[in-house]
Amino acid sequence: MTPKSLVLTVVALGIASTALAQVKPEDEIRFRQSVMNVVGRCFGPMIGMAQEKIPYNAEVVAKNTNIIQTVIGLHWKSFGPGTEKGAPTKADLKIWSETAKFNDLADKVQQEVGRLSQTVKGGDEKAIKAAIGDLGKACKSCHDDFRLKEVRT
Ligand code: HEC
Repeated sequence: MTPKSLVLTVVALGIASTALAQVKPEDEIRFRQSVMNVVGRCFGPMIGMAQEKIPYNAEVVAKNTNIIQTVIGLHWKSFGPGTEKGAPTKADLKIWSETAKFNDLADKVQQEVGRLSQTVKGGDEKAIKAAIGDLGKACKSCHDDFRLKEVRT
């Protein structure tokens, strides 16, 4: 790479990171909701299986666990400063005053997803159902504290 093209690359990266810093709050809110909805859509049938409401399907569990594990870390940054409002949201304002607690619950859910993924590899249906239940509890404990029942603007 010539020095000139290197400079151009750095300039291009500078522009890219500036653009990144300027993601609009409404886009961040939509992004976090989209990721959460993907996670929820994947997790729904799994919870149904764990509760024996629908037949167990190991293939669906493996596929959905993979998707959840891939996306679960993507959207926590989209709860950053300045994203309290800007679009309709169920995010409780406490997220921005009790941030450490919120982040702990986000870490915890990621750990549970990792544990579920390991358990899925083991193939023991009973253990997998228990791990799905544990993950559900980790989702719920954050929703109980930090997700509003109604959308606010
Ligand atoms: C650290 C906190 C936290 C954890 C952990 C968490 N969520 Fe959420 N979730 C939220 C918040 C806050 C919102 C609302 C976001 C918004 O509207 O801006 C939300 C929204 C959602 C929504 C959209 C609901 C709606 O009404 O639009 C779904 C679905 C969802 N979460 C599923 C899950 C699942 C499944 C898990 C576990 C695998 C999970 N969440 C873990 C905090 C969390």
